[in-house]
Amino acid sequence: MLFVNFEEVLKTYITPLNLITSWSIGSNNCSSIFLTFPQDFSWGVSSSAYQIEGGWDADGKGPSIWDVFTHTPGTMPADATGDVACDSYNRLDEDLYMLRALRVKSYRFSLSWSRIFPDGTRLSLNQKGVDYYNRLINGLLANKITPMVTIYHWDLPQALQDRGGWENIDMIDIFNDYCDFCFATFGDRVKLWMTINQPHSIAWLGYGLGTIPPSIKNPGIAPYIVAHNLIKAHAKAYHTYDDKYRTSQGGLVSIALNADWIEPKDANVPRDVESADRALQFQLGWFAHPIFKNGDYPDAMKWQVSAKSELQDLSESRLPSFTEEEKNYIKGTADMFCINHYTTKVVTFATGKLSPYSYDDDRDVLETEEPDSPTTPFAGQRAVAWGLRRLLNWIKEEYGNPQIYVTENGVPSPFPITIEDTDRIFYYKSYIDEALKAQNLDGVNVKGYLATSLMDSFEWMNGYNFLFGLHHVDFNNPNRPRTPKLAVSYSTDCLAKIRSASSVESVSNL
Ligand code: BGC
Repeated sequence: MLFVNFEEVLKTYITPLNLITSWSIGSNNCSSIFLTFPQDFSWGVSSSAYQIEGGWDADGKGPSIWDVFTHTPGTMPADATGDVACDSYNRLDEDLYMLRALRVKSYRFSLSWSRIFPDGTRLSLNQKGVDYYNRLINGLLANKITPMVTIYHWDLPQALQDRGGWENIDMIDIFNDYCDFCFATFGDRVKLWMTINQPHSIAWLGYGLGTIPPSIKNPGIAPYIVAHNLIKAHAKAYHTYDDKYRTSQGGLVSIALNADWIEPKDANVPRDVESADRALQFQLGWFAHPIFKNGDYPDAMKWQVSAKSELQDLSESRLPSFTEEEKNYIKGTADMFCINHYTTKVVTFATGKLSPYSYDDDRDVLETEEPDSPTTPFAGQRAVAWGLRRLLNWIKEEYGNPQIYVTENGVPSPFPITIEDTDRIFYYKSYIDEALKAQNLDGVNVKGYLATSLMDSFEWMNGYNFLFGLHHVDFNNPNRPRTPKLAVSYSTDCLAKIRSASSVESVSNL
């Protein structure tokens, strides 16, 4: 076990919490009319390896596709990289201190695949990388914080990309072997696993639009192949856990999916309602339908892609199909529903183009912003809290009332950055209220909420321009000092409410 002198860490690196708890936070307390947190509600924060760790080549780590991409001149705004990021690889004690001070129940983080296997495979095992995650996991447990581990959050080892990345069917076995190693190595202490973060983003942004690494622009074909392989890889890892580890370790395995809520432009127009449902099926259902429902893609998706492919004179649908055996293998390969959610879009019917082939056009929808909700610094991503309640209800109805964890939700700070982040508090407060309405009033089985993010981080293509953290990180200072923002006090207030939930207290001071 790791013993940390937190007081030393506090003195050296972090603004004392009493500086912020002494602020007037009356209007920012965690409050909702008549709503209560369930007693066992899991409240936490999230992060991911490439976004915070830095140490990009430390102690034998291999390069990931994000290292190679950000090191290529001209790819990133202000040449931002994750080379140092929050320097969490060297500042584990500070991270543990922040988490302890937050008093969160869970921490969602990801493992850097190429830190553990520098070339992506077991043959290249890097013990120092394993040691880092052991120290992190042990430190969390010593502080009674439940680790929620994402095995792969976008940072594919470059060596595997060199073998074709997720377009290569061999990735299914390669990923399974990596997961097997993680279960065997950390599974005595980690009980909540997510195999992959946002497979939709990997397939569509990585291989369709090509806006994130590996930057492949093949919008009508590659995303479907990649998604097919990702789903099979997830299912295989789930079965490995079932066959080899579940009895002795007793954990839960899932996958973190992402979805906007999609609202029909006019709920009285049947075509708009169908289009909104279709858009949801293309985004969330693409992965959730096979895994949570029947092992197969949603009918709307199968029908659309097949019809378009026929019009494009193709001999078969661009959407691959699963054999009956594969369907049975994929169906039911998740023990809980993990959903990352940020915003709501409005949709109406629009005939998609036939050329060039594109997943986007296959959907036959026109997507716009929800016009009446507050804008955020994230263009196109308005703060539409009621959308979360609708999405949670949709998941409940569509997938048979699973246990749901909101594994990401948050908003970037506007510029100039200030630690008095009242916008963020408003965002959390309104979204959490809606999650609680879904839980308390609609009977949705919401088990937990993880705020994005623990601290300001490398935000992918937005570099360090969009900062989602509950803690500010000074990226100009080599010590990367972390400073709590006002939203920290909101989070701790919500936790106090959860802790008192056993006395069936009604939270009613809005
Ligand atoms: C990613 C997170 C990221 C967030 C905001 C999500 O899609 O999963 O890693 O922090 O977007 O950029």
